Parts: sequence; C-alpha cells; structure tokens
Amino acid sequence: MDTTCIRFCALFLFLCFTSLNAQLLPEDEVKVLETISSKLQNRWNVSRASCMQGMGLNTTDPTYRRIVSNVTCDCSFNNSSVCHVVTIQLKGLNITGTLPPEFANLTHLRELDLSRNYLNGSIPSSYGQLRVSILSLLGNRISGLIPKELGDIFTLEELNLENNLLEGPLPPNLGSLSRLRIMFLSANNLTGTIPENFSNLKNMTDFRIDGTSISGTIPDFIGNWTKMDRLDIQGTSMEGPIPPTLSQLKNLTMLRISDLRGEQMQFPNLTGLTKMRRLTLRNCSIFGPIPLYVGAMPLKLL
Ligand SMILES: *[C@@H]1O[C@H](CO)[C@@H](O)[C@H](O)[C@H]1NC(C)=O
Ligand SMILES: *[C@@H]1O[C@H](CO)[C@@H](O)[C@H](O)[C@H]1NC(C)=O
Ligand SMILES: *[C@@H]1O[C@H](CO)[C@@H](O)[C@H](O)[C@H]1NC(C)=O
Ligand SMILES: *[C@@H]1O[C@H](CO)[C@@H](O)[C@H](O)[C@H]1NC(C)=O
Ligand SMILES: *[C@@H]1O[C@H](CO)[C@@H](O)[C@H](O)[C@H]1NC(C)=O
Ligand SMILES: *[C@@H]1O[C@H](CO)[C@@H](O)[C@H](O)[C@H]1NC(C)=O
Ligand SMILES: *[C@@H]1O[C@H](CO)[C@@H](O)[C@H](O)[C@H]1NC(C)=O
Ligand SMILES: *[C@@H]1O[C@H](CO)[C@@H](O)[C@H](O)[C@H]1NC(C)=O
Ligand SMILES: *[C@@H]1O[C@H](CO)[C@@H](O)[C@H](O)[C@H]1NC(C)=O
Ligand SMILES: *[C@@H]1O[C@H](CO)[C@@H](O)[C@H](O)[C@H]1NC(C)=O
Ligand SMILES: *[C@@H]1O[C@H](CO)[C@@H](O)[C@H](O)[C@H]1NC(C)=O
Ligand SMILES: *[C@@H]1O[C@H](CO)[C@@H](O)[C@H](O)[C@H]1NC(C)=O
Repeated sequence: MDTTCIRFCALFLFLCFTSLNAQLLPEDEVKVLETISSKLQNRWNVSRASCMQGMGLNTTDPTYRRIVSNVTCDCSFNNSSVCHVVTIQLKGLNITGTLPPEFANLTHLRELDLSRNYLNGSIPSSYGQLRVSILSLLGNRISGLIPKELGDIFTLEELNLENNLLEGPLPPNLGSLSRLRIMFLSANNLTGTIPENFSNLKNMTDFRIDGTSISGTIPDFIGNWTKMDRLDIQGTSMEGPIPPTLSQLKNLTMLRISDLRGEQMQFPNLTGLTKMRRLTLRNCSIFGPIPLYVGAMPLKLL
C-alpha cells in the first residue's frame, strides 16, 4: 500500500471510531471557546471533537515539553455523549488583552486559572455567573474594583487575586461565599476595612492581604475562623491591637503581622496556638516581655 492509501485508511478508521463513540462539545460551547480564543491571541483551535482528540485545546511548549494550555473536559453528560469543558489553566503565557467576559458562558467550568499573564482591564461583572470552585487571576494587571457579583459564585472555594492593580473596598457580598477556604488579595491597592460580613467565612483556612491599603482594626471575628492555617497581614494600613480572639485559632501554623498603626500594645494572647511554625510580629509597637509559652511553640521562625 502506498502512503496515500494508508492515510486514507487511517482517516476512515478514525471517522468510524469517532462516529461510534462520539463525545462532542455542544455547538454553542464551541462558539464560546472560539470567541475566548480569538480574544486571547488565538490560543486554541476548537472543534466539536476537541475533547476526544486532545488536540486544539491542550498545547505543549515544544522547547520545554511542558503543557502551556491545559484544558480538561468531562464527557459523562447525556449518557456519555456530550462533553463540557470543566477546567482551564492558562498560566504564565504572556497573554495580553482584557479578560473575556465570555468565560462566564462556560456553565460547567469548575476551575479558571489565568495566573501570571499580562491581562488588564477590570473583572467583568458577568463572572458572577461562573460556578467555579477555583478562580485565580494571580499576577496580572487587572485594575478597577472587585465586582460585588463575585459574591454570587456560591461554589467558590479558592479566590486568588494577588498581585494586580485592583483598588477600592472589598465588597461585603464576598462574605456570602460560605465555601471559601482561600482568599488571597495581597499586593493590590485595595482600601477600606474588612467587611463585617466576612465573619460568615468560617471555612477559611488561608487569608492574605499583605501589601494592601486595607485599614481599620483586625476584626475580632477572625477568631471564629477556627479552621485557619495561615494569616498574613503584613504592610497594610491596619491598626492594633491584635485581637485576643486569635488565641482560638488552634490550627494556625503561620501568623505574619507587621507595621500596625495605632497605640503600643502588650504581646498578643497567642496561648492556644500550639502548632505555630512561623510567627512574625514586626513593627507592631509591641512592648513588654515575650510570654514563656512562645518557647513551647514548634517554631521554625520567630
Ligand atoms: C454569553 O451569554 C450571554 C447571555 O448570558 C449572551 O448574550 C452571549 O451571546 C453569550 N456569548 C456567547 C459567545 O455565546
Ligand atoms: C491552529 O491551527 C493552525 C493551522 O493549522 C496552526 O498554524 C496553529 O499553530 C494552531 N494553533 C494551535 C494553538 O494549535
Ligand atoms: C489536557 O491535558 C490534561 C493533562 O494535563 C488531560 O487530563 C486532559 O484530558 C487534556 N485535555 C484534552 C482536551 O485532551
Ligand atoms: C491540568 O489541569 C488539571 C485540572 O486542574 C490538573 O489536575 C492537571 O494536573 C493539570 N495538568 C498539568 C500538566 O498541569
Ligand atoms: C443533554 O441533556 C440535557 C438535559 O437532559 C439537555 O438539556 C441537552 O439539550 C442535552 N444535550 C445534547 C447535546 O443532547
Ligand atoms: C445510555 O447508553 C447505554 C449504553 O449505550 C444504553 O443501554 C442506555 O439505554 C442509554 N440510556 C439512555 C437514557 O439513553
Ligand atoms: C514570556 O515573555 C518572556 C520575556 O519576553 C519570555 O522569556 C518567555 O519565554 C515568554 N513565555 C512564553 C510562554 O511565551
Ligand atoms: C463549608 O463548606 C462546605 C462545603 O465545602 C459547606 O457544606 C459548609 O456549609 C460550609 N460551612 C460553613 C460554616 O459555611
Ligand atoms: C492607590 O490608591 C491611592 C488612593 O486611591 C492612589 O492615590 C494611589 O496612586 C494608588 N496607587 C497605585 C499604585 O495605583
Ligand atoms: C463568634 O461566634 C460565636 C458563636 O457563633 C458568636 O456568638 C460570636 O458573636 C462570634 N464572634 C464575633 C466577634 O463575631
Ligand atoms: C485542626 O486540625 C486537625 C488535624 O489536622 C483536624 O482534625 C481538625 O479538624 C482541625 N480543626 C478545625 C477546627 O479545622
Ligand atoms: C488567652 O486566650 C485563652 C484562650 O482563648 C484564654 O483562655 C485566656 O484567658 C486568655 N488570656 C488572657 C491573659 O487574656
């Protein structure tokens, strides 16, 4: 057989295979993906069969052989005949332009990670329709206010907006994200105080607001976030004292607070924090002795 014939037979078998086991993306989802692709420097070549062939959506850097566009599908819909895109990771790809509002049309998306690109503009309010558990826009040039609609993503467990140009106050609506475990807001020009509604965020394990202009006192209610593992409040506009309720965070392993404004304070009550590995309380106008119980903490850094 000559090569043309081999190619023809291969194509024929492939078509037979695909028609017997067709697991296709819906037409409108292909259109949404094409729209997004065109706004992100033609990242993808999308077809209805993209989930089956693993081509067009996933791309690999030929030099480093690492996956640079990582898209996964779930093809178990409608008796395993329909696929939907469920995760999208486009990390560190130097992508420019504004955030496409059309991501919000991907109703089955569970993860959207656009970390470390050069995306600018503001976060579209349409993202409130997303039903993702992970949303990361870490390390871009995203500006403007955090839209209050993000508080509608009740599925959200991880929100990472670190290292952008966001400004203005934290929307109180974010306090309704009851599943939220991770909230990273460090290195933004955010202002205002931590909203009272955040007292509801009792699933929180890791909260970081370093290098923001967030002000006010550290709220007492953080002591009710009993699952906390790490709390970072360095270089903000916040003021003391450090609330004694922090001593209730028995699972805390890292606490970093620096540059608090306001009056001098005694060493804070950290008696219950027996798992602490890293403790930073720098430039907080603390006076008086360091309590003996600090010596019993399993500290790697003080
Ligand atoms: C996305 O959804 C909105 C309405 O929710 C619709 O108006 C718009 O046409 C959709 N965009 C695409 C590209 O399908
Ligand atoms: C899309 O297809 C065109 C033409 O076949 C090709 O040049 C381009 O590299 C493809 N892009 C991706 C991201 O696969
Ligand atoms: C993309 O690659 C991941 C592995 O990182 C894989 O799980 C997934 O199925 C691939 N996506 C497609 C559309 O083939
Ligand atoms: C692709 O994304 C999936 C879903 O987040 C993840 O499990 C997988 O490890 C990723 N693959 C690569 C190569 O990054
Ligand atoms: C899949 O099933 C859903 C719900 O049963 C239905 O709305 C949708 O139209 C079906 N999709 C296809 C492509 O058949
Ligand atoms: C789903 O597919 C299986 C196996 O192909 C078939 O037996 C079953 O009847 C299908 N169910 C529906 C609801 O189409
Ligand atoms: C991003 O840009 C930097 C600097 O120009 C370059 O070194 C790097 O290879 C680019 N990365 C990708 C994935 O294009
Ligand atoms: C914590 O999150 C789980 C789901 O991840 C949810 O069922 C539970 O209600 C949340 N807890 C609180 C106190 O909101
Ligand atoms: C941060 O916000 C303040 C007040 O709105 C403004 O004066 C300042 O220029 C902003 N800084 C940056 C780096 O955008
Ligand atoms: C902490 O939770 C308890 C019990 O739910 C509640 O009575 C108390 O008011 C809360 N403390 C703060 C400061 O929100
Ligand atoms: C604290 O950590 C332990 C061990 O990892 C875990 O069993 C426990 O549920 C945690 N407590 C809270 C309040 O999250
Ligand atoms: C410190 O906090 C613990 C636990 O919350 C409490 O039992 C104790 O009375 C507090 N100590 C002081 C000096 O307030």
